[in-house]
Amino acid sequence: MEGHKEPLWLRVEGSHCSLSEMDDFDLTRALEKPRQLKIERKRSFDERSMSELSTGYARQDSILEMAHSPGSRSMVDTPLSVRNSFEPHPMVAEAWEALRRSMVFFRGQPVGTIAAYDHASEEVLNYDQVFVRDFVPSALAFLMNGEPDIVKNFLLKTLQLQGWEKRVDRFKLGEGVMPASFKVLHDPVRKTDTIVADFGESAIGRVAPVDSGFWWIILLRAYTKSTGDLTLSETPECQRGMRLILSLCLSEGFDTFPTLLCADGCSMVDRRMGVYGYPIEIQALFFMALRCALSMLKPDEEGREFIERIVKRLHALSFHMRSYFWLDFQQLNDIYRYKTEEYSHTAVNKFNVMPDSIPDWVFDFMPLRGGYFVGNVSPARMDFRWFSLGNCVSILSSLATPDQSMAIMDLLEHRWEELVGEMPLKICYPCIESHEWRIVTGCDPKNTRWSYHNGGSWPVLLWTLTAACIKTGRPQIARRAIDLIESRLHRDCWPEYYDGKQGRYVGKQARKYQTWSIAGYLVAKMMLEDPSHIGMISLEEDKQMKPVIKRSASWTC
Ligand code: GLC
Repeated sequence: MEGHKEPLWLRVEGSHCSLSEMDDFDLTRALEKPRQLKIERKRSFDERSMSELSTGYARQDSILEMAHSPGSRSMVDTPLSVRNSFEPHPMVAEAWEALRRSMVFFRGQPVGTIAAYDHASEEVLNYDQVFVRDFVPSALAFLMNGEPDIVKNFLLKTLQLQGWEKRVDRFKLGEGVMPASFKVLHDPVRKTDTIVADFGESAIGRVAPVDSGFWWIILLRAYTKSTGDLTLSETPECQRGMRLILSLCLSEGFDTFPTLLCADGCSMVDRRMGVYGYPIEIQALFFMALRCALSMLKPDEEGREFIERIVKRLHALSFHMRSYFWLDFQQLNDIYRYKTEEYSHTAVNKFNVMPDSIPDWVFDFMPLRGGYFVGNVSPARMDFRWFSLGNCVSILSSLATPDQSMAIMDLLEHRWEELVGEMPLKICYPCIESHEWRIVTGCDPKNTRWSYHNGGSWPVLLWTLTAACIKTGRPQIARRAIDLIESRLHRDCWPEYYDGKQGRYVGKQARKYQTWSIAGYLVAKMMLEDPSHIGMISLEEDKQMKPVIKRSASWTC
């Protein structure tokens, strides 16, 4: 790894791009021409939606073309599953019915969907609540189906909840924290509805959900993009909500890295799993939320300062992630040969990673062509595990460069057995077991090897995979994953997760009729049918952020 040189794209220069070239994230204009930005942003949501139909590196027609072109690179290892995905599958109607059954109403208005509608399960725990992260695929399904009201209500309701005073024992949480989940209580006698929310003070482990605020911002943009209704995101309440979330994650402290420091269990993996520190899932969501906020914040007196801070942070964050979290064959070889205990600015091994700490499996796992963002990077600690959500969101947010995005998809194809197996998609790979499981999870009986968060397979992840496939112009990979899902998910009653090395078994403690498994399937199907939907959940690469990776792009060798 070379020393830090100021990369080209850090030097923000004036540019003269036309309106049509304006992306959601234009650094120069964001900083210099706030007034213009507002007008252009207004236009952007309606005018640009056409130009961003496929949002990715392949346009819709070329996507279809590629699926039938045997010479295209993405066809390697992918069987020609040219089954027409546009035929309605019987599961689709069932899924819609199940999704509607999961809807939660507050004073007669739909405000979300419950996590699972599993009456057979003895323990309800908190699965009867509306989880912010779980509602995202439901929201996308409703938006894609032209039903934005429930999404708007959800955004407003959670915004109200954000305003609550939040405490764990005697400690007061930050104002901007969004709830992990909320529950509507119906009093049939008094005929009143009330809400209780959980910001981490009831959650197992008492961790605040760092991802909730990010998903909220991402969803606000999806709503805006899908409906063209700017009035919601422009309300003083939404603007304030965004600023509160941003103040939490942009505050200055002792950090020496632009990444966000987190406790274990603060996102989808909401139990102790060794994801404390700088987990890829949070960094990718952070990056995406910053970009989404940038496209929606008004450059007024209060907003302008945040816009400036976001722009600076995005520069630093993308450099850090693309340089230090990225792993491919070449980089692995470089780390393997690292010297340690280097001091001063000239250090190559900046975080003092001990080559002996590289786990054996990664040497076999890494193909010559392909790569991914590792799970975590902090002093003397690289978590080499592959996490699917973080990598897919990196593609969608364009945190990954186009080459890196392609490499992530190459790896997926190459390691299909390991990462997808019989049920899409592994939450992470590989699992941890034995002594390591004892130490890292604290002997968690739910997270035993190849189960739940420890290498389990989660059908909900199908939608992020499908979106990433469409964006990179490789829909046939998604089609293959959807085929697998369609062979079992409905028959197994839409479980929350599957267990085993191949993801063959319904998870030990998996809920049935898990809403995000249902909604994730619907979103994947709708996106594949109409790839233009991806625009609401994807951001184009910023043209001023030139790739900085200096190490070899293994897939071009
Ligand atoms: C589990 C999952 C979490 C999810 C919740 C509700 O706790 O780990 O990610 O939000 O269930 O489905």
